[in-house]
Amino acid sequence: MEIFESRDALQQRLRSLRQSGRTIGLVPTMGNLHDGHLALVAAAREQADFVLATIFVNPLQFGPAEDLDNYPRTLQDDCELLTDAGCDGLFVPAVTEMYPDGLQGQTLVSVPGLSQKHCGASRPGHFDGVCTVVCKLFNLTEPDSAFFGEKDYQQLQVIRKMTTDLCMPVRIEGVPIIRNAEGLALSSRNGYLDTEQLALAPLLHDQLMAASTTIKSGQADFADVEARARAELDKAGFRTDYFTVCNALTLETAQHDDSDLVILAAAWLGKTRLIDNLRFTR
Ligand code: PAJ
Repeated sequence: MEIFESRDALQQRLRSLRQSGRTIGLVPTMGNLHDGHLALVAAAREQADFVLATIFVNPLQFGPAEDLDNYPRTLQDDCELLTDAGCDGLFVPAVTEMYPDGLQGQTLVSVPGLSQKHCGASRPGHFDGVCTVVCKLFNLTEPDSAFFGEKDYQQLQVIRKMTTDLCMPVRIEGVPIIRNAEGLALSSRNGYLDTEQLALAPLLHDQLMAASTTIKSGQADFADVEARARAELDKAGFRTDYFTVCNALTLETAQHDDSDLVILAAAWLGKTRLIDNLRFTR
């Protein structure tokens, strides 16, 4: 696997690949890779001639009280996993390489509305940071396609809208959530959980499943379904941030005639914020 730390070296290599007619599939990550990230690499491997992963813990998408400094950094292991997964290239820039003029005054890309609800309400500015760095990565690498996990469902929808609204010539591919045997969605932040919390964490997915089953069996009072799930989670020791039945495309509160639904959920276990979702039709 070829490793690039500078934009110049990366762009030079990609230019020659493009000239020889190769397609490029981009897999943006923040590292500390697990099977969820590797599923994106596998999906890219199926479509693109050259699979380029990026590892960059993007300071612009972290709030002042968030885990930027403690975010797990495991570059050596990540390189081995990517090599084994058949990834062709890795871009791993320093913060100064991505933000040479610093973060202050950085031009921002913002998707209003969609970015402000759910995770955006709890993490103001988060999606502006995500969109800005993803836009920069798109401009630097000019990929044919880019791969994002459905695990971060709102992020995927925000990126889809940014790409459409700004006429970015990139195909956005969503990849299904990878879970452990207990149903817990894999996440780099699961590493913050202690043994007790790890045993409790799959309840988030259990509650998503239970809520979707209730709705599919005819329950039309979504607010009641949401309240019950929150109560179960809070009783078990979570601090629920949101648990909301939404229209799967707009992420607005689901209306009774909506059939393509997603339940979005975020809940704290101690100091760790977990997110998960379940999409279904009724
Ligand atoms: P990160 O949290 O490292 O995730 C990178 C990609 O992996 C995202 O598209 C995410 O949805 C996907 N992913 C994570 N866990 C997954 C799982 N269990 N199953 C399937 N896909 C999973 O998301 C980010 O980084 C950043 O916001 C980024 C897009 C890189 C911008 O900085």
